[in-house]
Amino acid sequence: MLRRILLIVGLLIVAGAVSFWLVTMPKKLPAAVLTAGYRPNLANGEVMFNAGNCSGCHITQGQSDRTQLAGGLKLESPFGTFVAPNISPDPKAGIGAWSELEFVNAVKRGTGRRGEHLYPAFPYASYALMKTSDVRDLFAYMKTLPPSANPSPPHELSFPFNVRLVLGGWKFLYFKPQEFVADPNQSAAWNRGAYLAEGAAHCAECHTPRNALGGPELDKLYAGAPNLEAGGRFATNITSHPKDGVGDWTIEDMAGLLATGMDRCFNEPTGMAGVLASTSKLSAEDNTAIATYIHTLPAKAGNGKHKTC
Ligand code: HEC
Ligand code: HEC
Repeated sequence: MLRRILLIVGLLIVAGAVSFWLVTMPKKLPAAVLTAGYRPNLANGEVMFNAGNCSGCHITQGQSDRTQLAGGLKLESPFGTFVAPNISPDPKAGIGAWSELEFVNAVKRGTGRRGEHLYPAFPYASYALMKTSDVRDLFAYMKTLPPSANPSPPHELSFPFNVRLVLGGWKFLYFKPQEFVADPNQSAAWNRGAYLAEGAAHCAECHTPRNALGGPELDKLYAGAPNLEAGGRFATNITSHPKDGVGDWTIEDMAGLLATGMDRCFNEPTGMAGVLASTSKLSAEDNTAIATYIHTLPAKAGNGKHKTC
């Protein structure tokens, strides 16, 4: 009798593990997403690189050239410390030997080259909104950057967070990849801004609080959050709430911050310095577009004490 019960329990565990794997296994986009007739646009790839702030995390530590991508930045989190890898075009240490499809799958599906789940500290949950042609241009542009042979340092994570399979559960709960869909009732500038802010520029990733499982608290979208990456600085409430948020900023105020790194009160917000170094390279049109979109975020109260300007 006992043996039979043990056998049944054993089978249930195996069935559970198999279904967990089937439901959560790393997903890949088919090669068909790489449509024929595509011609790389390097200038657009550079725009995506700047909008996505790839250098913010992947820049070689200890130097300031934003095109050197040997990684090494440590990102602290409640789950342990992530270390940004080398994504320079070096074929061994970086991603120089990756195919275009492998790159698209990393950026839009969080699936690595060996078919493994990638940690969402790499903000692919937002990048998934990007058009595939924009990601292809980004890849083509990154191939023109200097290679570095520095090997990627390992993450500093403890059990169970060092087991990538666990990420399947996170993705199942919080990752619903979908390309950006424009809103026909809004202006072209608003749609461009929404595309950049929600996708490549991933503003919500830092400005939204997370629950214990690391999922975004959607009812507090953009309402401000503690930010460990920024050395404990609190990411401001950037909804249009007039007191707690930035509803009292004009579109020009916001676009000015993104372009110059200095806010309308002449502060240089250090907590977002890496992001601003990248947005300062965007065109005035793109920064105004992002500001136009952010300006319309529904007002949410809370965390006003962290407002600095
Ligand atoms: C907030 C920090 C952050 C930003 C911004 C960021 N990344 Fe990453 N990226 C990471 C981390 C951390 C990893 C490691 C993930 C893992 O090991 O699962 C990673 C992994 C990757 C990988 C997989 C590398 C490998 O060896 O498996 C690629 C490719 C990549 N990033 C490209 C990019 C590109 C392109 C951008 C800009 C559009 C970008 N990243 C922006 C943090 C970031
Ligand atoms: C890597 C995390 C991160 C990302 C990504 C990010 N922010 Fe921030 N942001 C912060 C932090 C942290 C602060 C608080 C800065 C400080 O106190 O120094 C901040 C502050 C701000 C402020 C207030 C600045 C002030 O002077 O009061 C605005 C406005 C803002 N962010 C807008 C944006 C927009 C728009 C985006 C997307 C383009 C964005 N942020 C992306 C972390 C981030």
